[in-house]
Formats: sequence, structure tokens, C-alpha cells
Amino acid sequence: MPIAFISGSPQARSRSNALLDVVRNHVVAHGAIVEDVRARELPPDALLGLEFEAPPIAAALGRVARANAVVIATPIYKASYTGLLKSLLDLLPQDGLRDKVVLPIATGGSPAHLLAIDYAIKPVLTALGARWIVGSVYASDAQIGKRNDGGYEPDAEIAARLEDSANLLLEALDWARATRQRRAAATPVELSAAA
Ligand SMILES: Cc1cc2nc3c(=O)[nH]c(=O)nc-3n(C[C@H](O)[C@H](O)[C@H](O)COP(=O)(O)O)c2cc1C
Repeated sequence: MPIAFISGSPQARSRSNALLDVVRNHVVAHGAIVEDVRARELPPDALLGLEFEAPPIAAALGRVARANAVVIATPIYKASYTGLLKSLLDLLPQDGLRDKVVLPIATGGSPAHLLAIDYAIKPVLTALGARWIVGSVYASDAQIGKRNDGGYEPDAEIAARLEDSANLLLEALDWARATRQRRAAATPVELSAAA
């Protein structure tokens, strides 16, 4: 099962996407299959109009539904995640992140909104059913450099934290898989005893 990479930035050249890329490269190097969901590439009318059946929307929702893990990155706007990301999350089913491992990432202009992952992003992930939220990473713009080609890349400390978080995600996926297999093999009596 793939890992979905959700980008909530409206920008084509994006700092938060640069962080997403570090995690993506790391998990791909470890054999994971990945799928991208970039909110900015979805048609705005369909996104804001809750057009679940519009082909690009349905395709994006399908990528999230198929994934057993989600890495979700957003810039901080006005002390929270972007409205663009919220529009996409509003389209997910109520339990759209249930049984998925989730790694949240955020970037902000300053360290002041470091806790936005905890007070703004995690509650919405939890409301969508996520129970395995691992290794969140926040970086301020000063920790993300601009490359000569106009793209961005995080400094060594943030890159190392992202790789640690990517490893945690992969470990959590193994753990989640083992838990599912154990549950599937358990007898009804064992399951009621575990509840
Ligand atoms: C409309 C807007 C609102 C912002 N609000 C905040 C904020 O409240 N706190 C903060 O730390 N940075 C804020 N920023 C800065 C961005 O979060 C920051 O530059 C981020 O790294 C941009 O990520 P991106 O390149 O992936 O879009 C804001 C930027 C914009 C454009």
C-alpha cells in the first residue's frame, strides 16, 4: 500500500513541499511506493464546491483512501494550517485517516507558531480518525535555504529530523501491519478479552 504525500501550500515553489520531498526521497529509498496529493493542483471550484465526483477530486480522495500512511505538510497561515488544506480535508470521509499512520509537517515564518501542529493540525487529524500520529516536524523559514534553481532545501538539522521522522513512520507502518495481522488472526474470544 502506498504512502500519500499531501501538500497544503498554495505556492508552486514551496518550503513545506521541500520538507515533504526529504521524507519522500527517504521512504522511496527504503522501497515505499508514494502518491502525491497537491491541493493547489485541484480545481478550485470543485474543491470549494464539495464536488466529490469531479475526476481530479475523486482521484485525490482515492489516493488518500488507498494509502496506509499519510505525510501532510502545510505552511502556517494566520497561526493555523492553510485554508487550502482545510478545503481538501473537508472532502475526506469523517474517518478518512482511520488506521493510517500520519506524519504532520509545518513551516512558518518564525518559530512563534511551533505549537500550531499540536493545537491546530493534530485535532483535525484526530477528528478524521488518525490514532497513529508520529514524528511531527516544524521548521521556520530561516531553517530552509533557497537553492540556485529557485527551489528550497532545509538545513542539515531539519533534514536529519525529517529523516528520523521518516524512519519512525516506516517503523509505525510495520507495527500497524503486525497489529492488523494479529487482529485478523485472533478468535472472537481473544478479541473481546483484548477490548
Ligand atoms: C497569508 C500568509 C499568512 C502567514 N501567516 C503566518 C503565521 O501566522 N505564522 C508564521 O509563522 N508564518 C506565517 N506565514 C509565513 C509562512 O508560513 C512561511 O513563509 C511558510 O514557510 C511558507 O511555506 P510554503 O513556501 O510551503 O508556502 C504566512 C504567510 C502567508 C503568505
